[in-house]
Amino acid sequence: MFIYSVAMKELVTKVEILKEEFETFYNYELIDHINTRIKKPESIMKKLEKKECNYTYEQMIENVNDIAGIRIICPLKKDIFSIRNIVTKLPGIKVLKEKDYVTKPKESGYSSYHLILEVPVTLSQQQIYVKVEVQIRTLAMDFWANIEHKTKYKTEGKISKKESPFFQGRNICSKPFPKGIHAATVDSQYIENYCTSCTEVTSCTEVV
Ligand code: GTP
Ligand code: MG
Repeated sequence: MFIYSVAMKELVTKVEILKEEFETFYNYELIDHINTRIKKPESIMKKLEKKECNYTYEQMIENVNDIAGIRIICPLKKDIFSIRNIVTKLPGIKVLKEKDYVTKPKESGYSSYHLILEVPVTLSQQQIYVKVEVQIRTLAMDFWANIEHKTKYKTEGKISKKESPFFQGRNICSKPFPKGIHAATVDSQYIENYCTSCTEVTSCTEVV
């Protein structure tokens, strides 16, 4: 996993510099925070199995694009596209795949901007390109996706989707979302006004 971890470091450093640049020179918080993770071996094996690949190093490099993952969380929806434009133009970075679930959210309501990038890593003997998955989303989208992820996970073994308040078109708290509102259209202020004062959030996620 060495190459994935160094590629991730390379990219995170660049994104952190970007964050600091905006705060220092433009007094603007373009990026709220950055999360990183390296996929666990068992998850890599699961993905290879799902893709009907052999458990070989070559197949892993070829078919698993999200071994190194960076999530960039920003305050506003428009920031996503600014970050996307800057990141894809960083020197040496190649864009392999791009999915815009912000302009066109998934049916579930999931919203986020996904990139599979190739990051150059310079080693003593050679330069190699390593794939890194980048997800760019707002605080509100991140909040939504995390809850939805837990909800889905819990429904696997415990209760059916039908029973889940989430899948009945309700928010994670018991108050229904107004029609047409999903993660892509709400901003962090909306979530704050809507959810953080709601004492039912914890118990609702427990129920779900
Ligand atoms: P994998 O889902 O990683 O196998 O690859 P894919 O090419 O189908 O990926 P896509 O770019 O659509 O999604 C990649 C990642 O985004 C997933 O591994 C999740 O972390 C996240 N994601 C995609 N769809 C959803 C969703 O409906 N809900 C949540 N919570 N996360 C999602
Ligand atoms: Mg993934």
